[in-house]
Amino acid sequence: MEFKLLPGGTINGEARVPGDKSMSHRSMMLGALAEGTTRVTGFLEGEDALATQSAFRAMGVEIERLGEGEVLVHGVGLRGLKAPSGPLDLGNAGTGMRLMCGLMAGQTFDTVLTGDASLCSRPMGRVIDPLTLMGAEIASEEGGRPPLVISGGNSLQGIHYDLPMASAQVKSCVLLAGLYARGRTSVTEPAPTRDHTERMLRGFGYEVSNENGVISLQGGGRLKATDIDVPADISSAAFFLVAASITPGSDLLLTHVGINPTRTGVLNILRLMGADITLKNEREVGGEPVADIRVRYAPLQGIDIPEDQVPLAIDEFPVLFIAAACAEGRTVLRGAEELRVKESDRIAAMAEGLDTLGVPNEVLDDGIIIDGGSPIGGGEIRTHMDHRIAMAFAIAALRAEKEIYVLDCDHVATSFPGFDALARGLGLQITVQAD
Ligand code: S3P
Repeated sequence: MEFKLLPGGTINGEARVPGDKSMSHRSMMLGALAEGTTRVTGFLEGEDALATQSAFRAMGVEIERLGEGEVLVHGVGLRGLKAPSGPLDLGNAGTGMRLMCGLMAGQTFDTVLTGDASLCSRPMGRVIDPLTLMGAEIASEEGGRPPLVISGGNSLQGIHYDLPMASAQVKSCVLLAGLYARGRTSVTEPAPTRDHTERMLRGFGYEVSNENGVISLQGGGRLKATDIDVPADISSAAFFLVAASITPGSDLLLTHVGINPTRTGVLNILRLMGADITLKNEREVGGEPVADIRVRYAPLQGIDIPEDQVPLAIDEFPVLFIAAACAEGRTVLRGAEELRVKESDRIAAMAEGLDTLGVPNEVLDDGIIIDGGSPIGGGEIRTHMDHRIAMAFAIAALRAEKEIYVLDCDHVATSFPGFDALARGLGLQITVQAD
């Protein structure tokens, strides 16, 4: 499947983008391991979160779909999972695999975790290392790559772990393994990362403390079922925040978006560039802050992106690079080496596409320099099987002078099912065709 985009257009109207991917994964995990029935609304029915859902079904958890995004999870308790009859396939999802790794390390049975070609090329040593310190036994392919074979029946011991990189997946993996460990498990992070695991654990009645940046929990407790309302994913909203910001005449309202402060780097960075973004109707839903976001066109300027914003906007850089391409002057990103180990090497994949469109850029080890403001061309873009690369270049068409063909877009369904229809409704001239 490929996207064909005609140049130009404006972005207007109101939309609710699909549910938050991070929270959707976690809602299945904690719901499955809770005692009682958890009702989830706003669940992202994208391939990634559905793969996590299937993994729990394969371990004996009954999960009912009541309607779009509405799911009942009949929890089996922390010790209630059954051995799956085969490998658990987590598809494209790094979050699924890394968090499941922590949970599976605490089971009495062996599990094999696998995924697609992209996931099987991603580093898992970052979770294998702390779990091994806790007493887990995990075999991998060369270089810590999946498939992973996790031996059951090992008793885990709580540890303190200083995260070597700012990663919510690694933090969450260690904390989730900590549910099964003797004693206390604690982590510190080099910079704050998304804290959905901590918030959701508390929502399930599990005490998680954060004292001066040391996040910890005591093993051996219980999770109590609860209701979870998953807000719209700010990472999906980001495509349209940029779309409206770069297109004269645009005025857009995105409703019920999660604005957890560990996720709002995209708002902060766009505002520093001059974007016109206002939050309305701010409220708290199930322990997570939510708002409606209004965004109107405004001329953007290039900036030096503050490094403290990097972990808070880590998934939004592909589309932020498009904003930078449309901004006047130079944008510099540094301290973002983590972008190289996402669903693709996002620095290299974006630089390749920007080159195709004629946007001057220079790749750095840990970031990129983009000189914005010159005309944006067209051409064929390769996505490297990465959903966010595909959607970012679709948005670029709004300011392009020629047609853009985004090849190989199937992975968009991992995080944003219905992206093309929603984008079309708001004014993007996008059609889908077989490639
Ligand atoms: C996620 C954490 C981030 C992010 C990913 C989702 C999570 O990954 O890129 O899309 O849900 O915990 P890292 O922990 O590798 O930074």
